[in-house]
Amino acid sequence: MNKINLLKENIALAMKGGGDKRIESQHKKGKLSARERLQLLLDEGSFEEIGMLVTHRCKDFGMENEVYPGDGVVTGYGTINGRLAYVYSQDFTVFGGSLSETHAEKIVKIMELALQNGAPVIGLNDSGGARIQEGVVSLGGYADIFHRNVQASGVVPQISAILGPCAGGAVYSPAITDFILMAQNTSYMFVTGPNVVKTVTHETVTSEELGGALTHASKSGVTHFACHNEVECINNIKQLLSYMPQNCEEDAPVYAYETTEESRPALDNIIPENPNQPYDIKEVISEVVDADSFLEVHKDFAENIVVGFARIGGRSIGVVANQPAFLAGVLDINSSRKGARFVRFCDAFNIPLLVLVDVPGFLPGTDQEWNGIIINGAKLLYALSEATVPKITVITRKAYGGAYDVMNSKHIGADLNFAWPTAEIAVMGAKGAAEIIFKKEISEASDPEAKLKEKETEYTDKFANPYRAAARGYIDEVILPSNTRNKLLKGFKMLENKVAKMPKRKHGNIPL
Ligand code: HXC
Repeated sequence: MNKINLLKENIALAMKGGGDKRIESQHKKGKLSARERLQLLLDEGSFEEIGMLVTHRCKDFGMENEVYPGDGVVTGYGTINGRLAYVYSQDFTVFGGSLSETHAEKIVKIMELALQNGAPVIGLNDSGGARIQEGVVSLGGYADIFHRNVQASGVVPQISAILGPCAGGAVYSPAITDFILMAQNTSYMFVTGPNVVKTVTHETVTSEELGGALTHASKSGVTHFACHNEVECINNIKQLLSYMPQNCEEDAPVYAYETTEESRPALDNIIPENPNQPYDIKEVISEVVDADSFLEVHKDFAENIVVGFARIGGRSIGVVANQPAFLAGVLDINSSRKGARFVRFCDAFNIPLLVLVDVPGFLPGTDQEWNGIIINGAKLLYALSEATVPKITVITRKAYGGAYDVMNSKHIGADLNFAWPTAEIAVMGAKGAAEIIFKKEISEASDPEAKLKEKETEYTDKFANPYRAAARGYIDEVILPSNTRNKLLKGFKMLENKVAKMPKRKHGNIPL
């Protein structure tokens, strides 16, 4: 066979992965092959493969007789909507996509290229974990990847899609990356699977219940997107990337935008008369950001806070908003963690922040206290406080207690603080406040209930408004809700060239 034909044969072999039968079996499970996934993800004809002819080095357990070019992972680079991205896609048809020494080396190689050249890394995971036949070299390979994940964190965006098994220590690479997406019913992530769980804790649980997409989207918060299928997953990756810069030294892409009528009259009627009645903060978000530009992240987890990407005047922003329609928008452990992680991503990648505030405070109770609401609430406080990107706050209604401070108050470095006339900025709700500070007066009154009402009204009149804060400059302007979008367009434009000087230090110590 001449040399040209030999190469062609090797390429054909690599393209087949573990063979047609195994690819067919992937399809039967509702899964695509490693190469089909890349075809969907990357612009047509843009993929350049690196390491197609790499093979494993294992000579134990008869492995020397079973060799597949590529060794279970397709790696390389290409473009997504015209922008460079580095990719790896694990091939379950080759030894179950398991990670050998050389499989790991291929992934590390593209991660290093991504770091040196400043472009995102996207990992499509579908693997039975460490290549069992290789022992410790496979574990070493994982650690080599984890280390690159950490080095790349905050330098280039890292996105992981879980499209099959991802178990044991293998979960820690996606866990370090910025966003995780999972496909429902075909993917799962866990540190130990159902069999080990059964032996150790005597619980009976399926893979899907233990670590499927919906579990991690709603219960643990490990995944940011639970997609219906792989195609949706891949489309979400592309959409996510559209809000991000290529690396921490660049800005996100700017989309053409022409200013038109920016007033949003519907917002003047969105806050209910009764301050305890909920409304959906997502309606506010969709009115103030560019039409159809909001991509919610972590939708099914800690729904009392809403986070996601959007655009204002064609420019990317990150939105963090209390959700009065869920648990009254209270801050608890999970919502604080969710908010903090999102804020840190935006800050790392120069994405300005819009914070919408309607928060009654932190959630009381033994469950919250014993599980560390103090440390977890502090994460959100820390993240917003350390963020140096342009930060704008709009208080729509309640901003009570410590939550007022935490939710991007002027005091922790917000650049512009707006409040609607419906804002209530105080240490606590009027009833609770009246009960404490007028306790004696109320108990001695001939009609304590009427007295309480009277004192409650007095407190409400004094504090349940934005004017005391505005008089001090904590609020820069009390604005008509309908004018919010206008204010944000101008505000973010004004802050476009913000430069924040930070003190010299190795790194801060966020309460983890
Ligand atoms: C080598 C593996 C493999 C592995 C699967 N295969 N996992 N080969 N190392 N880790 C091979 C199988 O032998 C089989 O080969 C093919 O891949 C497909 O596997 P099946 O079992 O037939 O597929 P399925 O029924 O879909 O089950 C998938 C699976 C199961 C649930 C992932 O294969 C499995 O439990 N694998 C072992 C998982 C595991 O314990 N991994 C180590 C975890 S510890 P043939 O030739 O028959 O097609 C770990 C530590 C990481 O990963 C530490 C990092 C710090």
